[in-house]
Amino acid sequence: MNSIASKTPSFLSNPKKHHFIDGEWRPSVSGEVIETRNPSTGEVIATLARGGQADVDVAVASARRAFEGRWSRFTPSQRHALMMKVHDIIEKNGDDLTLLETYDMGSPVSRANSVKDRVLQMIAYFATLTSSCLGETIPNSLPGNYFTMTIKAPLGVIGGIIPWNGPLVSQWWILGGALATGCTVVLKPAEDACLSVLRVAELLVEAGVPKGVVNVVTGLGAEAGAALAAHPDVDKIFFTGSTETGKEIIKASAANMKRLSLELGGKSPDIIFADADLEKAVPGAAMGVFANSGQICFAGTRVFVERKIQNEFVERLASFTKGLNVGNPLDPNVQLGPVVSQRQLDRIMNYIDIGNKEGADLVAGGSRLGAGLAKGYFVEPTVFTNVDNNMRIAREEIFGPVISVVPFDTADEALRLANDTVYGLGGAVWTSNISMATKMMHGIKAGQVWVNCYGLLDVAVGFGGHKQSGYGWKGGSQHVEGFLYPKAVTMNAG
Ligand code: NAI
Ligand code: MG
Repeated sequence: MNSIASKTPSFLSNPKKHHFIDGEWRPSVSGEVIETRNPSTGEVIATLARGGQADVDVAVASARRAFEGRWSRFTPSQRHALMMKVHDIIEKNGDDLTLLETYDMGSPVSRANSVKDRVLQMIAYFATLTSSCLGETIPNSLPGNYFTMTIKAPLGVIGGIIPWNGPLVSQWWILGGALATGCTVVLKPAEDACLSVLRVAELLVEAGVPKGVVNVVTGLGAEAGAALAAHPDVDKIFFTGSTETGKEIIKASAANMKRLSLELGGKSPDIIFADADLEKAVPGAAMGVFANSGQICFAGTRVFVERKIQNEFVERLASFTKGLNVGNPLDPNVQLGPVVSQRQLDRIMNYIDIGNKEGADLVAGGSRLGAGLAKGYFVEPTVFTNVDNNMRIAREEIFGPVISVVPFDTADEALRLANDTVYGLGGAVWTSNISMATKMMHGIKAGQVWVNCYGLLDVAVGFGGHKQSGYGWKGGSQHVEGFLYPKAVTMNAG
């Protein structure tokens, strides 16, 4: 084990965690707690405050006060300077934060540097957007001498509800936009992975972000999450999670007509043509699902393979899959850690059972790992072949390391099958034929398409969903638009 792995994260030295509200640690109004576990060992590593309506009320009031205070009058250059201080403090604490994520949700230390770099790139990029909250001056045809313009104003209090599959990254889509525009935030992280979010909130205050700008309420989705989603003084919810919960968030938004940004589930197609470079396509398609133990919204879980190379492709995919190193995520040689919880493990094992019963052929994996890993939530990376696109394993989001290989004969058939899903998050094509790549690029109905690669994201490019994968673009220069509203101003210049 390397030097990082032999340490424990400093934040766990006190395992009794509270909400972070108005710059302070506060227990739940009810006094109740929930337990959070290390998925590698099944051990309880901390208790979290169990938030409900009363806690959300206090946190939203804190965010509202901070929004109405000096925070919304920071100039763009003051915001930029502050965000670069935030960047530096996150960089300084980066190893500790990624290690915390390893303990909390099983992210392997072998990925720590890339996660840390990604977070730092996000903060640095969002800092550049502090001067991008642009309106327009617009010539008008009004009778008289009027000057007309639009200005962009910060929306106010933003509620962020995020999932457990990578909170260290996903919190920044919300924090970055809020800090760049002058909004304030109440975050409700997922009950299975809260710790890096709580620690970052504390570090933000240390960096000089005014108290109350970022608040964190922990607890269950149906309690703290639902209270935040319905709160009448929250102006917008950014939600990342399942499509099912996304629909609940839409209903809850109706009372005060909250704005929404929803990044939801996926069942993304990854199309492999016979002329693809299999040296790249096999590991590319495999890691397009197995990275983060399959817990990635845009995972390319339906791999469509041209029938004439199906046997060769599946053989190579199965052999690559069997060669992956699954185990203790503190070991720097491990590529895949556990899944986040017993509940998620049960869900994945149930889908593997369904795949077997539906008649798909299991060619790799399929079992929970035992021996030294039996107390953790480890599942072998799994490949099913001869899958029909109508089987449940090809239609429902499993959110685990399970690939379904579906054969096809023609490009049109591949496209039809690829788009035969309620989701539209990602998609990819592997081919050496540029006109085929172009046809697929235009034909796949999804928010992002990769050609001869899979899953690469850059904050400056951005990211979004289509169909039931949600709406609201994240990243790119438009990112700040999600935190602003336009105001038309007409001035009598008499
Ligand atoms: P979920 O969508 O229920 O949870 C995501 C977040 O929403 C968590 O913070 C949770 O506390 C909160 N939440 C739950 N119910 C809520 C409600 N009624 N109102 C407000 N907030 C609520 O996802 P869950 O149950 O953790 O996972 C179930 C499945 O969802 C996974 O197996 C996977 O298929 C999918 N999922 C997809 C994600 C993605 O990024 N596309 C992320 C997480 C889960
Ligand atoms: Mg945990």
